Amino acid sequence: MRRVWVVLALVMLAGLPAAAQPFGEGIGDALVPLAGNPGYDVQHYDLDLTVASISTGSIRAVMTIDLIPTSNLSHFFLDFEMLPIASISVDAQPAAFHHLDGELEITPAQPLQANETATVVIRYAGTPEPVINPALGEGGWQTYREGIYVAGEPFSASSFMPVNDHPRDKATYTFALTVPEPWTAVSNGVLTSTVEQGKAVTYTWDMAQPMASYLVTLSIGHYSIYQQTGPDGLPIVNYLPSSRARELRPRFQSQPNMIAYFSELFGPYPFDTYGALVITDSRMHYALETQSRSTFGLGILSSGGDLVIAHELAHQWFGDSVSVNSWGDIWLNEGFARYAEVLWLEHTRGDRVRDNYLRQLYRTSRRSAVLPGSPSVNNLFSGAVYDRGALTLHALRHEVGDETFFEILRTYADRFRYGNAATADFIAVAEEVSGMTLDDLFDAWLFGEEVPTLQSIGVWLN
Ligand code: ARG
Ligand code: ZN
Repeated sequence: MRRVWVVLALVMLAGLPAAAQPFGEGIGDALVPLAGNPGYDVQHYDLDLTVASISTGSIRAVMTIDLIPTSNLSHFFLDFEMLPIASISVDAQPAAFHHLDGELEITPAQPLQANETATVVIRYAGTPEPVINPALGEGGWQTYREGIYVAGEPFSASSFMPVNDHPRDKATYTFALTVPEPWTAVSNGVLTSTVEQGKAVTYTWDMAQPMASYLVTLSIGHYSIYQQTGPDGLPIVNYLPSSRARELRPRFQSQPNMIAYFSELFGPYPFDTYGALVITDSRMHYALETQSRSTFGLGILSSGGDLVIAHELAHQWFGDSVSVNSWGDIWLNEGFARYAEVLWLEHTRGDRVRDNYLRQLYRTSRRSAVLPGSPSVNNLFSGAVYDRGALTLHALRHEVGDETFFEILRTYADRFRYGNAATADFIAVAEEVSGMTLDDLFDAWLFGEEVPTLQSIGVWLN
């Protein structure tokens, strides 16, 4: 509080724009206050990363970031765990920096001008360590017996690269990943080249649509590729651990049909490619909708069946293409992906099986005190966010009818494509498309202490 007044006084005395922030201030997310950084908008991350040793996970890297300041900046911050930095330049001039507690403060030789693209080059080397996420535990850069992988939500990328680590600052990515032979490096999007140099191979991956940083995937392992084709020739490229490829392949068989069905319901699939990446490390006890290439732990694949595959696929529309504006909006990801499971069950198994699933979601919602519209940071991924979030959508569908409901989903996916949305944005689209007032419905399902009855949304307890 006092610091705010001092800063304000200094700014007023100097008559400068209020560009200076206290060290490590975040982008302004109430639930995760230190996440991300204000003052600029990253356009593109270009990472040139060499993994010198797969067993230790030691790397050297050159990160080139194109960013546009939203105001004049004397300095700015990136999120970056404590890997040793060799040098930083901004617009080809050496820049001063200060690296503390996962925040990297950069002071360019000249202040950055608002709205003029600046290019930041950061050279670093070291051995990344995992980060701890409030709900999921260990995440980010992880080495294990079968290689190295990166996964986590809300934090992961900052374990191995400097990044504005909040979904509100989406950007495109190019990763050139150099690994010793015979390892394979997998990431988001399209593999644009594979170049051998001596005993190493460089895999270059391009994610051409804006992506939130927690959706970065990077995996080094021994993979067997399983190709499928989706609607309009969409390439589906699955990376399955070679030793288990034969047994895993059948689990992904429905993906082309799922993409076709969800494209009808939600609008066109938003990226250039899709596919799965399977990780055999037991710490990967969940699945994650890493953009265009969802990551699955082995355990969740066995227990989740088609539903977990439908869930991560649906996130490509809801979570990845349309990302949360703040982490408190997480039901816009998880409630929607859970409801896509309901829709897939209905499509493949009929209404009776669907209703049984809705009853199950209802029971877990009633057992929880978590409100899907306002979770705490430790409850971001608790059952009620998923299950009561999904029931919220079923309630909306019951209220407005099928035709209007899917029109709402398509309008929302289209309007916020490659961007961000908050809960209020979704409610506004629902009201606009339906021409109805829906506050009461959303208040009751997202924010009410009492869970409304299932009968009130057309599902009878049997
Ligand atoms: N976004 C991920 C998903 O739902 C989060 C996974 C959370 N997993 C967990 N076990 N809590 O696909
Ligand atoms: Zn999910």
